[in-house]
Amino acid sequence: MTDSTRLRIAVQKKGRLSDESLKLLKAIGVKLSIRDRLLIAHSTNLPIDLLLVRDDDIPGLVMDGIADLGFIGENELEEKMLERQAANEPAEYQLLKRLEYGGCRLSIAVPNEFDYKGLESFEGKRIATTYPQLLKRYLQENNVNASPVMLTGSVEVAPRAGIADAICDLVSTGATLEANGLYEAIEIFQSKAVLIQKDGALEENKQELVDTLLPRINGVMQAKE
Ligand code: PRP
Ligand code: ZN
Ligand code: MG
Repeated sequence: MTDSTRLRIAVQKKGRLSDESLKLLKAIGVKLSIRDRLLIAHSTNLPIDLLLVRDDDIPGLVMDGIADLGFIGENELEEKMLERQAANEPAEYQLLKRLEYGGCRLSIAVPNEFDYKGLESFEGKRIATTYPQLLKRYLQENNVNASPVMLTGSVEVAPRAGIADAICDLVSTGATLEANGLYEAIEIFQSKAVLIQKDGALEENKQELVDTLLPRINGVMQAKE
């Protein structure tokens, strides 16, 4: 059931942003009844519905106006924007707030036995990634001729599997790299969570709701500093 008069917020269903985003919603007074396996969760005290989806889908849902707001990592947002711009598809959104959680970095990492001596070490190499746009932009800006290999998951096993020479993936604690015999060669993008809104004006009742929620988000974020 969806109701177009209710503010629709896209949140990652499971992953590095979901817990903190749900905690933030709770902290600003949005009561939710979330049941497993359901894509939609209704707020029990405010006209708000949550769309619980894969993080990769959130920027597109907001850019297409299907969700009014979305909590998303800057890495996914920037990747989707570049992808849509290249395809001449709608890529507009409004940045409401940069948040203080979900910090991670997108880095190029190489197997422990790889002798990294600087960017020239990537010349002619294959780099597996889920973020081909961000990687391509970085390689172009730095005049490196390497080939991105697009994988939607398990990027960290690509070198061992002989699919690529290096990887370009998110790192936060570094545990995944270490567990897979890889080390970070260079960081190419830093990311935190942001709250975005669809382009164009919201319906009046939705705008009023956003106007009451935003100061509360600012309050929660300031209290954390
Ligand atoms: C990222 C990345 C690694 C992991 C790195 O995945 O792909 O698997 O986090 O984190 P670490 O440095 O703390 O080990 P993410 O959790 O974003 O999930 P996804 O790849 O399924 O989107
Ligand atoms: Zn993802
Ligand atoms: Mg992963």
